[in-house]
Amino acid sequence: MSRIPVTRVQGLTVRFGDKTAVKNLSFEVLPGEVYGLLGPNGAGKTTTLRALAGLLEPDQGTLEVAGYDPKKSRPDALRALGMAMANTPLPEAMTGREALRYYGAFYEIPDLEGRIAYLEAVLDMPYLDQPIAEYSTGMRQRVNVARALLHKPRLLVFDEATNGLDVKSRLALLELVRNLKEEGVAVIYSTHVLAEAEAVCDRVGILEEGRLIAEGTVPELLSRTGAANLELAYLALAAQGAKEVRA
Ligand SMILES: Nc1ncnc2c1ncn2[C@@H]1O[C@H](COP(=O)(O)OP(=O)(O)O)[C@@H](O)[C@H]1O
Ligand SMILES: [Mg+2]
Repeated sequence: MSRIPVTRVQGLTVRFGDKTAVKNLSFEVLPGEVYGLLGPNGAGKTTTLRALAGLLEPDQGTLEVAGYDPKKSRPDALRALGMAMANTPLPEAMTGREALRYYGAFYEIPDLEGRIAYLEAVLDMPYLDQPIAEYSTGMRQRVNVARALLHKPRLLVFDEATNGLDVKSRLALLELVRNLKEEGVAVIYSTHVLAEAEAVCDRVGILEEGRLIAEGTVPELLSRTGAANLELAYLALAAQGAKEVRA
């Protein structure tokens, strides 16, 4: 598989007024790699992902999605990017299939019906012809993920995408992530639920107050900290990070 990163973030800094949400953040994700962008609420994860989608102007730094600057070449970058976030509203008056046709029309998808049928099977959505108004959280979230995958993106971004899901839906999504990996899709898996990331990520970056305080494979971070799991490793790294800030 190609070693050319699908996405690159270099020296990203984003400020909101006096508040620096992301400070000099750099990371890259290779094809077929699942990168966990981890950290507590407010760490700067969503801000980073919004910058990758070209939705905000970085104060400093450069971004690349499939070779494109998401701000300057937004249409090209968007064609390569699929994004699934928690609690994205869906059109209640449509069926899931109608909604996917509607979103699919935004892209030039050669066989949209076939692609929807494929995702219906992979994401286990036998309910696609029922109205969205009748869906549970997990059913809605699977439609959201299908939407993000309609145009076969080279980079899939999950932003807290498994929040509020039942066990079955969550396992279906984790299984899907493993399959995407095999297809060479790069995945950014952003969550504050570290135990979940541990199971699915090849490499993780841990954000704390907008700074990357550690990066590596899960086994590397465990051996660096002597911790038994990623949650405990995070606590050790955050404590260490705090010391460095004070020093
Ligand atoms: N549009 C905005 N205006 C002002 N502050 C914001 C805005 N978006 C995010 N922030 C602040 O930036 C920080 C990082 O937020 P966010 O990226 O949403 O964190 P995370 O996704 O890791 O929970 C937080 O302190 C948040 O309050
Ligand atoms: Mg967030």
